[in-house]
Amino acid sequence: MSTQVKKAIIPAAGLGTRFLPATKSIPKEMLPIVDRPIILYIVEEAVRAGIEDIVIIQGRHKTAIEDFFDVSYELQDKLMKDGRSEWLESLLKIQSMANVMSIRQKQALGLGHAVYCGKPIVGNEAFAVLLGDEIMLASAQQRTVTEILVRGYEQSSLSSVAIMNVEASEVSKYGIAEATKSANGVGHKITKVIEKPDASQTQSRWALPGRYVFSAEIFEYLKDTKPGKNGEIQLTDAMMTLIQKKGLLGFEFDSRRYDAGDKFGYLQANIEIALDHPQLKEQMKSYLKDLAKKI
Ligand code: G1P
Repeated sequence: MSTQVKKAIIPAAGLGTRFLPATKSIPKEMLPIVDRPIILYIVEEAVRAGIEDIVIIQGRHKTAIEDFFDVSYELQDKLMKDGRSEWLESLLKIQSMANVMSIRQKQALGLGHAVYCGKPIVGNEAFAVLLGDEIMLASAQQRTVTEILVRGYEQSSLSSVAIMNVEASEVSKYGIAEATKSANGVGHKITKVIEKPDASQTQSRWALPGRYVFSAEIFEYLKDTKPGKNGEIQLTDAMMTLIQKKGLLGFEFDSRRYDAGDKFGYLQANIEIALDHPQLKEQMKSYLKDLAKKI
């Protein structure tokens, strides 16, 4: 697939405090959903959108992510000798699906800063950002969220971000976008973004679920962005400059979404993805039916 957006940044430097103690020595991005780590779902979404180069912004103790996308000679050798070709193939596919690189974010200065850390690799190209806390699952017939944004960017030459409707009680958990339906029917024209406002501060219920395609100008705005909400350099603040100078589009999406950064969302993802799994689904279905009778 040939697209104008070939690079993606995946910020993964967070400490994963919501999943302690599990994340004391394992990056939260490596926690499994059924049999695959969260990061693989994210990278697959990017690859389906035509992304070729993926920059993971890492903190200390995150080398397990790099290792996951690297060659594992001993394991591969053993699988080959044991004739486990199915497993071997799935490992080879992972290590060749994209060009995965990493950059260290040495200080936890916020999401805006994490994205800025990707500049040396992204350079002057448009790029996608995918936050690892959110898993978006598109069926084979659906377009992935990142694919929708890449197309939106290609059609409009404007930075494009995913938006989703949330309840008033959820507003303070997200960046919120105020938007009007754009005249030509392509996405929504975003007029303002506010980082985690109180529901009383905005009429809007459009949340930013962590999928973005930006033109490279965002780096200039990020460079000048001062610490904002919670003392962090916020991506939403740089997006506000982008709105004023260039414009920003918002796109809805229909794929399934799990908030894997939250314990309940993580469990939901495990159950529902197990219900899709060829070897697990029947067992899972009958287990859930039996369980529902008991509780
Ligand atoms: C970040 C962003 C926020 C966005 C959210 C999506 O917040 O700052 O704008 O809505 O991700 O998950 P975080 O959840 O990292 O605090």
